[in-house]
Amino acid sequence: MLPVRRLGSSLISPSVRATTTSAIPQTDELLVSALKSKRLITLNRPKALNALNLPMVRSFYPQLKEWNDDKRISMVIVKGSGEKAFCAGGDVLSVTKSAKANDGSTVHKDFFYEEYQLNHLIGTLSKPYVALIDGITMGGGCGLSVNGRFRVATERTMLAMPETALGLFPDVGGSYFLSRLRSNLGMFLALTGYRLQGADVYHAGLATHIINSSDLAELEKALLDLPSEQVNDSRVDDLLKKFRPSDVKTFSLANELQLIEKLFDGKTLEEILKKLADNNSEWAQKQLKTLSKMASGLA
Ligand SMILES: *[C@@H]1O[C@H](CO)[C@@H](O)[C@H](O)[C@H]1NC(C)=O
Ligand SMILES: *[C@@H]1O[C@H](CO)[C@@H](O)[C@H](O)[C@H]1NC(C)=O
Ligand SMILES: *[C@@H]1O[C@H](CO)[C@@H](O)[C@H](O)[C@H]1NC(C)=O
Repeated sequence: MLPVRRLGSSLISPSVRATTTSAIPQTDELLVSALKSKRLITLNRPKALNALNLPMVRSFYPQLKEWNDDKRISMVIVKGSGEKAFCAGGDVLSVTKSAKANDGSTVHKDFFYEEYQLNHLIGTLSKPYVALIDGITMGGGCGLSVNGRFRVATERTMLAMPETALGLFPDVGGSYFLSRLRSNLGMFLALTGYRLQGADVYHAGLATHIINSSDLAELEKALLDLPSEQVNDSRVDDLLKKFRPSDVKTFSLANELQLIEKLFDGKTLEEILKKLADNNSEWAQKQLKTLSKMASGLA
């Protein structure tokens, strides 16, 4: 594995460099390394839990677009720097600052527009895309991972779509990937912002695979070592499955699944609130409290 380099002009393989457009903006916050036909992106803002900002999106998108169209690139892997987070979300600080500045800054508008385009490209990528979602994975971090074909969780993964607490809707493709989860789990996760931990991320269907965090380095190496001509979805799937720990914890929401399925089933929010209110279980009353906190901006 070659050392991580800055994005842009210094892509390692000369044959690839020949077709690399030089206009791709460079940033130390998004690192790219290359090994033969594989590309590895590292979100590199560990102090900000790798929160995604506009410069990172502006580096990520054109690079990924180029790889998508380049037959010599076989696979893309994305991970976060440090042990705490894959990506804690969009960089709310820069967006809020821009929105309040009243100085002509358009970061708050550009960020979402361009972020969603990146999410869409990840969701339609023509080759395997493997997100190693070790640690905190929230909001924009789900956009960079759940939309892709392979999401590998560890026992340290904490995943949530917490947008309703901010008065926002679950964006970054959430209405697509949440609505496709079983048992109305998506509606539950979207409205309450519930935080899934470790194996629960896998059981809920938001991760496609689960491994032990102590095996992450080995998995990364195994992926990068796959012979280029062997890289396809089923080969990657097989490899990821080999890293599955022998004792994966059971779904901690197993006992609530039936309640979630029944009570979070409604065409309108009012319908769901009524179902929760009419159900005297302690669990339903707790969800009702959470939802009113979200609605009042007190979460
Ligand atoms: C992860 O690996 C470590 C060290 O190899 C081991 O002690 C631990 O039990 C494993 N955890 C799981 C959940 O498999
Ligand atoms: C994927 O690649 C493997 C070789 O690595 C091959 O055996 C298999 O048939 C391929 N699968 C598909 C669906 O192309
Ligand atoms: C709550 O709803 C569940 C699922 O419909 C039902 O089985 C249960 O009896 C209800 N509990 C109460 C106390 O209303």
